[in-house]
Amino acid sequence: MDEIFELLKPPKIYEEGSSEYWTNPLLMERILNGHLNENIPGGSKSNSFMEDSISFITNIVPKTKYPEVIDLGCGPGLYCQKLARIGYKVTGIDISSNSIRYAKGVANNENLSINYRVQNILDLKETNKYDIALLIYHIYGSFSPNNRKRLVHNVYKSLKKGGIFIIDVASEVSLQDYNEKKTWDFVHTNEALPKESQLSLRQDVIYPDNVLLKQTNILIKNQFPMTFNIWEQYFKKDCLIKEFSQVGFEIKGIYSDVCGKQYNKGNEEIAIVLEKV
Ligand SMILES: C[S@@+](CC[C@H](N)C(=O)[O-])C[C@H]1O[C@@H](n2cnc3c(N)ncnc32)[C@H](O)[C@@H]1O
Repeated sequence: MDEIFELLKPPKIYEEGSSEYWTNPLLMERILNGHLNENIPGGSKSNSFMEDSISFITNIVPKTKYPEVIDLGCGPGLYCQKLARIGYKVTGIDISSNSIRYAKGVANNENLSINYRVQNILDLKETNKYDIALLIYHIYGSFSPNNRKRLVHNVYKSLKKGGIFIIDVASEVSLQDYNEKKTWDFVHTNEALPKESQLSLRQDVIYPDNVLLKQTNILIKNQFPMTFNIWEQYFKKDCLIKEFSQVGFEIKGIYSDVCGKQYNKGNEEIAIVLEKV
């Protein structure tokens, strides 16, 4: 019993859980479905949003001038496929081997030449290689400030001079009316076991400086509990800009989403287009 209370103590900010959400074998099919099914939020946005986003991207960074793109955290490759179909030279990296396996299957079926690899984007090592880097659907805000610094440095190095980095984050607006909550439910992570023996204890905790923890503890009979800590930074525009200009990026444009919607400070997202000068 004490262990359950211990599990539910809010951790130190940015502390990792005992399990990694994106790579856990019990969750990988559910995560893939989250990308492919528009009705499940969190994995990828709707196809029509992505189409609008591709129009925006191809407009500001046409393939004639910016042929080589890397999609960081590409998931099952939905953006990669769309870009490869219209002639960009595409690399997609993701930490989830299941998503990359799926992405490679689609590329094979369609005869698309996309360079996919399973890799932590924090470990990106290439230099002066890409014309465009994409980091789409709030991935940036899931990292601690130190890891964000490391990521921005690595992306900067990986781009050619004049290369463009396009990124979106959640804005502080979307946290303003957010209520902390604690809920429990039976879940079906391991299909071999009855649902009633798999319990999820979920809590959302707001930390200072617009950081939210979405924590899920999964308790399965006779197994060690698994704790997934998902951290989300909600950004103020000026703080976001500072994180990129410190590294040397120049701001080319600020929008309300990666479809190029006009920036408005009341919007729930911020998208930013940066240039390596
Ligand atoms: C919200 S999804 C977005 C997927 C894709 N960008 C899209 O918009 O369809 C986040 C993706 O980032 C990947 N991811 C999370 N942390 C990562 C890391 N450290 N390195 C590589 N990929 C990561 C996850 O596996 C997941 O596919």
